[in-house]
Amino acid sequence: MEKTITFSVNGQTHEISTDPERSLLEVLREDLHLTGTKYGCGEGQCRACTVLADGKSVASCMTSISEVEKQSILTIEGLARGGQLHPIQQAFLAEGAFQCGYCTAGMILQAVELLNDDPKLAKTDIAARMQRHICRCGTYPQILKAIQRVAV
Ligand code: FES
Ligand code: FES
Repeated sequence: MEKTITFSVNGQTHEISTDPERSLLEVLREDLHLTGTKYGCGEGQCRACTVLADGKSVASCMTSISEVEKQSILTIEGLARGGQLHPIQQAFLAEGAFQCGYCTAGMILQAVELLNDDPKLAKTDIAARMQRHICRCGTYPQILKAIQRVAV
């Protein structure tokens, strides 16, 4: 049975009528056409689908749309401000922290959450706290360097 759910994405309010058990990832990609958030494993294992919900990272493939009712979602499309990339996005570019780019949106949003929580993260903490994210291209060293660039 469909339910009407209100939530915001990148500062824009949406009200949709849908099966409340559909995943946030599916709604973002199929209904809102925000395809920057990627479908990897679909099982909560790779974190390619990470977005922020009220500032906290969630695997959007494992999060139902009803769970984010009245919450504010941030996807990779909403990170740049006034035509300026977020510092983490700039750092990923500067360090060449991607190859195919499939994991990149999730990595960046996870890094944004970590640095919002604690801008003074030590490099070892960054590695430990990014460990749920899989990069099939093996760009882990560059990803860590990029996040370290922004950490103070
Ligand atoms: S696609 Fe969501 S964790 Fe892999
Ligand atoms: S850059 Fe290809 S999966 Fe990470």
